Amino acid sequence: MQKKTIHSIGILTAGGDSPGLNAAIRGIGKTAVGHYGMQVIGFHDGFRGLMENRTIRLTSANLSGILTIGGTLLGTSRDKPHKMPVGGKTLDMTDAMVDTYVRHQLDALVCIGGGGTQKNALRLKEKGLNVITLPKTIDNDVSGTDVTFGFDTALGIATEAIDRLHSTAHSHHRIIVVEVMGHNAGWLALGSGIAGGANVILIPEIPYDINNIAESIKQRSRAGKNFSIVVIAEGAKSKEYAQDLEALEIAKQGVEDKDERKEIKAKIKALEEKHANNTLQLSKELERLTGLESRVTILGYLQRGGTPSAVDRLLATRLGSAAAHYIHQGVYGIMIAARGDGIEPMPLESIVGRRKTVPFDHPWVETARHVGISLG
Ligand code: F6P
Repeated sequence: MQKKTIHSIGILTAGGDSPGLNAAIRGIGKTAVGHYGMQVIGFHDGFRGLMENRTIRLTSANLSGILTIGGTLLGTSRDKPHKMPVGGKTLDMTDAMVDTYVRHQLDALVCIGGGGTQKNALRLKEKGLNVITLPKTIDNDVSGTDVTFGFDTALGIATEAIDRLHSTAHSHHRIIVVEVMGHNAGWLALGSGIAGGANVILIPEIPYDINNIAESIKQRSRAGKNFSIVVIAEGAKSKEYAQDLEALEIAKQGVEDKDERKEIKAKIKALEEKHANNTLQLSKELERLTGLESRVTILGYLQRGGTPSAVDRLLATRLGSAAAHYIHQGVYGIMIAARGDGIEPMPLESIVGRRKTVPFDHPWVETARHVGISLG
């Protein structure tokens, strides 16, 4: 058989979208096509497009003009290879994805995504595919990398929102509770809260006591400051809620019986549903405890939309370009992590299943405390 000299690579974007995805696709594509002479195809809508063989050829023409555009030109989905909804059923479609890879005679597949995508990519690696991943998410919770792309942009958007909310909170002598995304990690809330000068920051890693929050707001009032900004991460929990959840999680770990596990899972779901409107409840309760009017702003998907920041464009381009380089070297089964100004190839096995949350002794936590921010 004649040896193939041109490498063919595939790219997909999976999980929630985030600013910088197009910059990453461009970084991989331009280096792969322009520098190494490879052929590149993109799969639409994450792992679903790989299963359904829905592709687009990426060329220097369609890789141009996308650097500054938000979202992903490939589309994305949260579908998982081994739990794919197909025709009303949930099936393991991993083999169908392997078939697509083989049909296109790919030498490698680049999967761009967060923690879940790293896990799914590892599954494909275990099926014999050459995979490389890039870490993206506004949550910054992927283990093994200093930072994920998308985070800086979201941090900027959340900080600008907090800046704007300051003047209206001040004018009306109100509490404004701002809910920031981040899933179960507090990076976005903590970073934007410090940068935006919040008075209280609540993160999932540090369960809060509402009386402590109310007390710090009342202290401000006594000092003549009749307004407060409370930044709350979407995953933040009161001490009671965190304890109840932890007890159920521990109980689940020790249970082998399928039905018993199902029952505990249902209890966890019910508890989460009960606390779904946590931010609204917190605001109401603060009104009652402080005597100040309180309003809520939920930033939501605004934080994921629009033009990536310069920092994210630079990071996504660097990581993307490095992915093409590693493919050229024949190095696979890795996530390209950001390490300082450089990059580091991390074996997928070393990062999968680990979420990077904010450590209690992280310098940002210390800084927040030192400048007088209440962490609840
Ligand atoms: O992972 C990014 C993120 O925006 C989280 O901050 C948030 O919890 C989640 O995605 C929302 O997911 P979805 O887009 O599926 O609603």
